[in-house]
Amino acid sequence: MKNVALCLALFTLLATTAMAQVPDEYTNLKVLPKDIGKRELLGTMKSFAAALGMRCSDCHVQETPGDFSSFDWASDKLNNKKVARGMMTMVQEINSNLLPAATHEHDFQVRCVTCHRGVENPRTLDNVLLKSIAKDGAESGEAKYRELRETYYGSGSYNFAPMTLATVAETLAQKDGDLAGARRMVELNLEMNPDHADSYLMLAELDLVGGHKDAARANIDKALGLDPQHSHAQRMLKQLEQ
Ligand code: HEC
Ligand code: HEC
Repeated sequence: MKNVALCLALFTLLATTAMAQVPDEYTNLKVLPKDIGKRELLGTMKSFAAALGMRCSDCHVQETPGDFSSFDWASDKLNNKKVARGMMTMVQEINSNLLPAATHEHDFQVRCVTCHRGVENPRTLDNVLLKSIAKDGAESGEAKYRELRETYYGSGSYNFAPMTLATVAETLAQKDGDLAGARRMVELNLEMNPDHADSYLMLAELDLVGGHKDAARANIDKALGLDPQHSHAQRMLKQLEQ
């Protein structure tokens, strides 16, 4: 208990010493009020960093890495800072004009975290995977999924529910005609979610396209084993038996 308190005190001290090196007056504010107080400015900056999973140095030039006193806060050299300014204007426009016009309600404010959810680039997981697959194939999509799941599972940054890989598989099969890639995604989905009956039906559909009726039958049985009332599985079974 004592150690925890000591640790916390130390932590606060370190954080305060670092933050004490941030100036009290600002010379290059274009969106925030020019006379903003230090507490409010730092609160805003910390919320940016948390919402995007970034550090101060991802947006601000730091001459010597690790040396907090070497920041040039006013500099606009880093692209992330310029983009962030555009995002601030966008969020203001959403909250003060677009959102009220759309809903006539004012009890919700969009913030950086609303879209970003702790990551720099707020793409959805299916989108990230499809992009990676389009560039480097299904193998790289699978590697990307494993890597992101390892890092972000439980954080809410990405949706790891079974529907994500199912969507990716469906898009690969239907839009790109990439049946091997689709199968790989379904198999990955079943490794992660062994109880996902729909995935067995997707395998069965892929089997049928390839003319493998027995394999399709076995996969439909597996789906029905998990969910005997599954109406789509029952329909597929009937069709197969005709
Ligand atoms: C996502 C990018 C981003 C991150 C991360 C970020 N900032 Fe900023 N910061 C900005 C932008 C954009 C401005 C300018 C805002 C404006 O134009 O109104 C700014 C302005 C500032 C200023 C005022 C500089 C001046 O003199 O005009 C300070 C000081 C500052 N940030 C400190 C920090 C600290 C400390 C952190 C880390 C806790 C941090 N920032 C993290 C984007 C960021
Ligand atoms: C309405 C959704 C939305 C909100 C709210 C939002 N962003 Fe973004 N932001 C995006 C999207 C989408 C991208 C990526 C655009 C792309 O890849 O073309 C992005 C990209 C960025 C990037 C560039 C990151 C990179 O890796 O390219 C920064 C920096 C950023 N946003 C900062 C912010 C800050 C700071 C806020 C809050 C003031 C904010 N964003 C609020 C949607 C949003």
